[in-house]
Parts: sequence; structure tokens; C-alpha cells
Amino acid sequence: MTSDRLLNALSHHATPCYYYDMDVLNQSLEQVQLHGIQKGYHVHFALKANHEPKILQHIQKAGLGADCVSGGEVQQALDHGFSPSKIAFAGVGKTDEEMILGLKNDLFCFNVESYEELLVLNNLASMLGKKARVALRLNPNVAVQTHKYITTGLHENKFGISDDELVEVLNYLPDAKAIDFLGVHFHIGSQITELSPFEQLCKKCNEYVRFIESKGLQVRVLNMGGGFGVDYENPDQAPYPDFKSFFEVFDRHLEVRENQEVHFELGRSIIAQAGSLITKVLYIKERTHKNFAVVDAGMTELIRPALYQAVHHIDKLTSDQDSKTSKNINVYDVVGPICESSDTFRTGIELETLKRGDVLAIRSAGAYGQVMKSRYNLRPDHPTLYSDEL
Ligand code: LLP
Repeated sequence: MTSDRLLNALSHHATPCYYYDMDVLNQSLEQVQLHGIQKGYHVHFALKANHEPKILQHIQKAGLGADCVSGGEVQQALDHGFSPSKIAFAGVGKTDEEMILGLKNDLFCFNVESYEELLVLNNLASMLGKKARVALRLNPNVAVQTHKYITTGLHENKFGISDDELVEVLNYLPDAKAIDFLGVHFHIGSQITELSPFEQLCKKCNEYVRFIESKGLQVRVLNMGGGFGVDYENPDQAPYPDFKSFFEVFDRHLEVRENQEVHFELGRSIIAQAGSLITKVLYIKERTHKNFAVVDAGMTELIRPALYQAVHHIDKLTSDQDSKTSKNINVYDVVGPICESSDTFRTGIELETLKRGDVLAIRSAGAYGQVMKSRYNLRPDHPTLYSDEL
């Protein structure tokens, strides 16, 4: 990552703060356009990964739709330029107020996760004199290699409509006068770096579509969700994942009829590598067995290491050209100021010798970083930096 302009900006900017490299974001958007959108695929950006206004405006202008999981996200998407006709509204626990917001704005689609939710949506829509367009989120029981907190497509997970429930839902649909049935929706997990689960998903989807069609219903939308992972170890060498191969899996294995649209909801793969959490070293604590580098960012700014044992690459941005010690490498536990031992970014990481005031970039923090910040310990909230504004 280029650091000179950033370091200069930091001389009059407080840390910790988030920094976005807009060139990196552009590179992933170009790949998504080239290998996905230009082939006719509809790609929605999952706001849960990042909902910064500037990022959203940028992504919307690149031709993506939005995937939202709360009324707050729906409103944020509407406020930042996404057309309602390109907003999908997902989520396992939508409130009546949230559904009403979606109905009043004529959103593209509600991804419905249970029979009970469908009943409520049908009632609310008929009360408002609206038709709710609906895709059924199905639980295909596809296993993925990822952290157990972010698998979603297994029967043991709370998400989606099970196979038994699907029969009940399909029997009800002809009577649901305020529901316009569009098709099916899946999301099997996040940070999936292998392509085989997506291939399996395509095969499951083909079976579901045939089953639903056998009940006399037309399937017009196939929403394959998101979940494509990024390389957390090598953010510079892999600024975006292999979108070409990702979309090719669906070209090859998904049966798409002429009147069907294929949709995706990508979050992490688009924005993760563009974001870094910038932090300064406060203190070096040298112990007999280890050195702690205490930095001014904590789990309050980036909870992924504490919550999912995620490993983020760390770069030292400052360099001590005159110092004899500058090329010395030391081993550190990089820890934050929060009063919990889980407030640790890395253990045993080798870095050029650190001292108070050094600036570090905790990389690949663009997705599920800033959005998951908390005010725990009444932490400060500093403005965000963008590469094209420095
Ligand atoms: N669609 C649905 C229905 C989802 O639940 C998710 C993510 C996405 C799309 C976007 O998935 P992506 O392309 O970003 O993998 N906080 C966790 C990740 C949680 C993912 C939740 N669902 C983390 O920091 O790893």
C-alpha cells in the first residue's frame, strides 16, 4: 500500500481511523462488471459489509444494486442513490415496520425466510394495497469451510426455509393474493475461498427449481447470495478475488431458463481489500517472553480477530530511515486498549522494530470492519479517510 500521502494526512488527523483505497475498490468493481454484470448477471452489494455513504454512492454508480437486511440498511441504500427496483430486502427477522418501509418503497424483492414471515408480509401488503415481490430463501444444506459463526446454509443454521416448510409455502402461494412469487434465494456462508460449494449450490438450485416448477409455479429469479472470500494474508498481491472463475461456476453449473434472471449479493469480495484500519503505537511493553505493541485501535474498531479469530495482515507505514535499528525485526503481540484479553489483533507477528508513534495499517478491513464498530468503553469516532481526497 502506498503510504506517503496517507502519512502526511495523518499528521493532522486523529487515529484510529478507517482508510479506503478507492483504486482498489475500482479494481474489484471492474472485475464484477466484466465477469458478472456484462454477462447479464444482477449483482447487489451487501450493505452489511460496509455502509459508508461515499462507498455506497461509488458502488451504486458502478451499476450494482443493494442487498439490505434491516430497515436502516434499506433507508441507507435509498438515501445514497440505489433505485428501489434494485434493492433486495433479506433478513431472518424483519419487523412489521421494516416490511412496511419496503412495501411503501416498492423494493425489487423481499427474500422471505419462513412460512410465518410470508403470512405476515401477505397481510401487510394487502392492508397497504400493494403486491410484495418475493423470493424464498431456501436452506440447501451445503457445507462450507469457514468459521462456524458464518456458515448459514446448513440445516442446523437458523436461516432459510427447510424442505418440509417449502411444501407448505408452495401450497399457500396460490392463496397469497398480495404476494408476487419471483423465485428462489440462497446464501450458504461467508469467506468461502473454494469454488466447489458454489458448484454444489448450483446443482441444489437446479433441483429446487425443477421441484417448484413441478408444482405449477414459474421461477423467474435465481438469487445465489454472496459469500465469496478474499485473501487476508496477501492483500497487496490479491486486491480482489478471482471473480472470473467465480462467475464461471454459475455459467457452467446453473441451469438458467430464458426468462430467468440470476442475482448475487456480494459484500466482502468487493470491499474488504480496499479498507484498512489505521492505528498508532501507544506503548511497547517488553516482557521476558514477549513484546506487546499496544495500539490506539481496539476490538471496538475491528472485532473480527476477537470474534472469529480472523487474521489480518498488518503493515508498518512509518519507517526510521536514520535509525540503526530500523531494519531490525521483532516479534509482537499487537493489542488494543480495551479492557479484555480478546482485544488482540495479532499474536507473535514479526514486524520491523516498533516504537511509540509508529503508524500501522491493519489490512483487509473494508468489509465487516467499520460497520461492526461499537462504542464500548465510550470509544471515539474519527472521520474516515479516502485515497482520492488526500
Ligand atoms: N447475503 C446474505 C443473505 C448474507 O447473510 C450475507 C452475509 C451476504 C449476502 C454477503 O456475504 P459476503 O459476500 O460478504 O460474504 N461479520 C462476518 C461476516 C458475516 C456475513 C453475514 N452474511 C465477518 O466479519 O466475517
